[in-house]
Amino acid sequence: MVTGMVLQDSNSLNKHFLPEQFRANFPALNNQSVYLDSAATALKPLAMIDATLEYYMHTTATAQRSLHRDALQVTENVAKARQFVADFIHVNDNKEIIWTRGTTESINLVAQSYARSILKPNDEIIVSELEHHSNLLPWLIVAQQTGANIIKWSTDLDELASLISVRTKIVAVTQMSNVTGFCPDLAAISRITHRNEAILVVDGAQGVVHNAIDVKQLDIDFYAFSAHKLYGPTGLGVLYGKKELLNQMSVWHGGGKMLKTASFEDFQPEDLPYKFEAGTPNIAGIIGFYATLNWLRNWDFKQADRYTEQLANYTKSQLSKLTDIEFYSTNQSPIITFNLKNIHHNDIAILLSEQNIAIRTGELCAQPLMKKLGCHGVVRISLMPYNNQQDVDKFIQAMQDTVAILR
Ligand code: ALA
Repeated sequence: MVTGMVLQDSNSLNKHFLPEQFRANFPALNNQSVYLDSAATALKPLAMIDATLEYYMHTTATAQRSLHRDALQVTENVAKARQFVADFIHVNDNKEIIWTRGTTESINLVAQSYARSILKPNDEIIVSELEHHSNLLPWLIVAQQTGANIIKWSTDLDELASLISVRTKIVAVTQMSNVTGFCPDLAAISRITHRNEAILVVDGAQGVVHNAIDVKQLDIDFYAFSAHKLYGPTGLGVLYGKKELLNQMSVWHGGGKMLKTASFEDFQPEDLPYKFEAGTPNIAGIIGFYATLNWLRNWDFKQADRYTEQLANYTKSQLSKLTDIEFYSTNQSPIITFNLKNIHHNDIAILLSEQNIAIRTGELCAQPLMKKLGCHGVVRISLMPYNNQQDVDKFIQAMQDTVAILR
């Protein structure tokens, strides 16, 4: 089920969600195309675009370095953005929020700076079968570096309870599969993981868009997500980590501002969060994301997600009328994946593209899951609250025409 994304604003009674009003914020929708590829990257609202433009047009300056007026303002905005992100995922201490380039970099940071230093040969990392490559490859790499083993797990809770042991050091799982839309039970997974003294790493790349997350209540140890799937800029991500874990981790990238002192012999790392943020941060991205999160507070996402859920149900019921369709996604998910018998998924993508309809097909960066599903790729459409029934109707019409050509 698509549940509500609830932002940190107690004044929710003043919020609303009117689909066409929401949609009007996305200039990319002002043409004839239909965008159904939001799980790959979401469209951007004007608030984000304006803030980014304003930064580049009028106040370009660095953060945490220079002392001129614009630079101080930018530094303040970057700090405010970090606090906004902390609030968004229910973290009190914004030192637990690290800026990265995206989910992939966040998980690699955990693998290289945390896992690599604690894993010993024959230790185990339990990784769910639902994961896309960003939450598998970092674990495979660190397993090869340390002699640890990857244990495949179906997301069934009883199976996790039987697989987990004193050898298990890490459990890695998605908040929402980018292929099936399935949302594992994070609360139960967290309990089992911590009962066995392992740590829980959650990939929030898809889930953060549709589900409210309280990383403290769920007792998640590390949580990663990308700004660009959450209406924000590309090239920016977040890693949340518990302070005690982040403090014990070694630095990984060396460079400006991640150090207190440096000489040709040695250096002393900065405190959190800066010790993991070498080099000039993605300032325009952070400012754009700050504007995005601020703008998102205006909307009632419980209503928005109900709307998306209805749209997903409608889409699935219309798609079901196509003959020989096999679905892989869970019911009511904003992500709908399928194949049509005897038609290659990429042929569908190409013919839909000719009709100005954007979808994603293929392995969706999840080769092992494709193998489990028994296919080489799928057709995926992904819905957001800026989509409407006209989008779906155009897509369905185009699908009917496509099937008529290909069969
Ligand atoms: N970003 C990839 C997707 O499209 C994983 O789902």
